[in-house]
Amino acid sequence: MQDYPQYRSQQKLIHWLSAVLVILAFLLIMFKIILSHFLGGMPNIYLLHKSIGVLVFIVTIWRIKVIIQYGIPEVLDKHQRLQRILSKSTQGFIYIFLLIAPLSGYLMSSRPLNVFGLVSIPAIDMPNEFYLFFHSTHLISSYLLAVLILVHILGALYHYFWLKDKVLQSMLAK
Ligand code: HEM
Ligand code: HEM
Repeated sequence: MQDYPQYRSQQKLIHWLSAVLVILAFLLIMFKIILSHFLGGMPNIYLLHKSIGVLVFIVTIWRIKVIIQYGIPEVLDKHQRLQRILSKSTQGFIYIFLLIAPLSGYLMSSRPLNVFGLVSIPAIDMPNEFYLFFHSTHLISSYLLAVLILVHILGALYHYFWLKDKVLQSMLAK
């Protein structure tokens, strides 16, 4: 039995699953030209990017449901006020952008959303300016999400290597 607070195994599963999916969504876009040679062309890159984005959205809803049900362990001491504010606000904005990025991705297109070639979600019909608005929202929210994730990962490494506390271990298996 560990002597430090731990996330539930379900929360760890959601965290790492979501992390892998988001990173995949970014990598597909960042290396789309190289990857399109291996994945059968650009349409497949976008099909995968969008489908993975839909999974991110579903996993985020599940994550929020689990947090409402069980809460979040207090991995930082009460007196670490600044660190608590920084980590909680980074995490809070990550949740927000984990919802806005995929939602805006869906809303910016006038074509049905094909999920892994299995399900087709109809597009919402709206004036062109709205599509353009959601397109900008998608780009801005995705890049803000990337910055927050970078800050978040650096924070976790700072705790592990510099402060040498148990924050990182609270999110690792076992
Ligand atoms: C976690 C979810 C997602 C992330 C982090 C993400 C991130 C990104 C990023 C970084 C770009 C490149 C922007 C640029 O060209 O500079 C992009 C483009 C794009 N994304 Fe997503 N995305 C996500 C989900 C989705 C979803 C769910 C859809 C559609 C249903 C989607 C559709 C697209 C499309 C069509 C583009 C190309 C836009 C263009 O060429 O201007 N994305 N996304
Ligand atoms: C190497 C990559 C990563 C590491 C080492 C890491 C580490 C951690 C740690 C140690 C915590 C617990 C911190 C605390 O409660 O104060 C945490 C929580 C969290 N992380 Fe990460 N993380 C990584 C990637 C990501 C990514 C890519 C995302 C976004 C998709 C993310 C989103 C979150 C969120 C929202 C929380 C709050 C608790 C929860 O809902 O799971 N993390 N992370």
